Amino acid sequence: MKALSSFSPSVFDGLRVLVRVDYNVSLKENDKGELAVVDDERIRLSLPTLRFLIEAGARVILLSHLGRPQKESDSQFSLAPVAQKLNELAFGLIGYKKKILFSPKTIGNLTQSWTKKLEKGQILLLENLRFYSGEEDNDPVFAKRLAKLGNFYINDAFSVSHRKHASVVGLPKLLPSASGLTLEKEINSLTSLLNNPARPLILVIGGVKEDKLEFTSQMLDWADQILLGGLLPEKISGFTKLLESKKVFPGRLTKDKQDLDKQTIANFRKKIIQAKTVVLAGPVGNTDQGHYRGTRALFEAAIASGGFVVAGGGDTQAALTRLELIDSINYIASGGGAMLDFLAKGTLPGIEALK
Ligand code: 3PG
Ligand code: MG
Repeated sequence: MKALSSFSPSVFDGLRVLVRVDYNVSLKENDKGELAVVDDERIRLSLPTLRFLIEAGARVILLSHLGRPQKESDSQFSLAPVAQKLNELAFGLIGYKKKILFSPKTIGNLTQSWTKKLEKGQILLLENLRFYSGEEDNDPVFAKRLAKLGNFYINDAFSVSHRKHASVVGLPKLLPSASGLTLEKEINSLTSLLNNPARPLILVIGGVKEDKLEFTSQMLDWADQILLGGLLPEKISGFTKLLESKKVFPGRLTKDKQDLDKQTIANFRKKIIQAKTVVLAGPVGNTDQGHYRGTRALFEAAIASGGFVVAGGGDTQAALTRLELIDSINYIASGGGAMLDFLAKGTLPGIEALK
């Protein structure tokens, strides 16, 4: 795999570079009734690569998804508010003096004309990839239409690199490609955790996405104990390996299923406090609706253990920020699902596709 850091910047002078970023951020209505970005961390993560490329004189075309839209165009899932946030951040943090352009279509003639307008060192963000079914279906025709927009492909989206989608695994087969600066860092950090963790190592996995259980089943050799919260204990019945393992502890939920019950929280705390490495992947209660009791108790126990604490995923990060614990975390990965898949296999489909 080629890394952007190994290239001379002059290679990119004038090139149209497609950069897959993960701007899947939460949006919320502001005072003016407009949707605005709640947490800009994922946008910030893309800035080192953007700076490298604009200083090199590249024409930068950004590709991202946002949420899981069910139809072709849905303003709730538009990336337009992200373009606005990116404008502010890029201006302040990397000295970007131009305007970030936003194309309301992701592919097609209109988009092509937007890419033609790009000056050297300018950035264009395209509308949500998932407005097209070809993205998640990894449709080769869709990938080709994306590839037409540029001459080079960079993946700087660790948090979506576990998805076999057109912009993640299809595009790098069609264009010369490289890993972005942030992706490279995430791979290096997680590889050293994977190869050399201090033990005992405890995984605390929450949230609602069932695919986390799939990744967890492949981590039984690596982890010493696996504690499950969120809605995962409710979804575990099909996962025989997890049910049979003595290392796995599905938590008991409160009656309304919004959090772990008190007894589980106390039991889990006792285990976590003895760990030398703790991996946090997902809040263990419905923090979106303000149910922080279990998440607070377990995240605080992880920090109190004095061990190495790793956290992954947008919701986990948001919860840590809200609980004012974020500064005590030793390493933060940008994606929870991607982090677990990487720790299970030592690689991800999006990383393999760059080879
Ligand atoms: C995430 O937020 O975990 C990534 O952006 C991937 O999103 P997805 O789970 O909808 O594929
Ligand atoms: Mg997420």
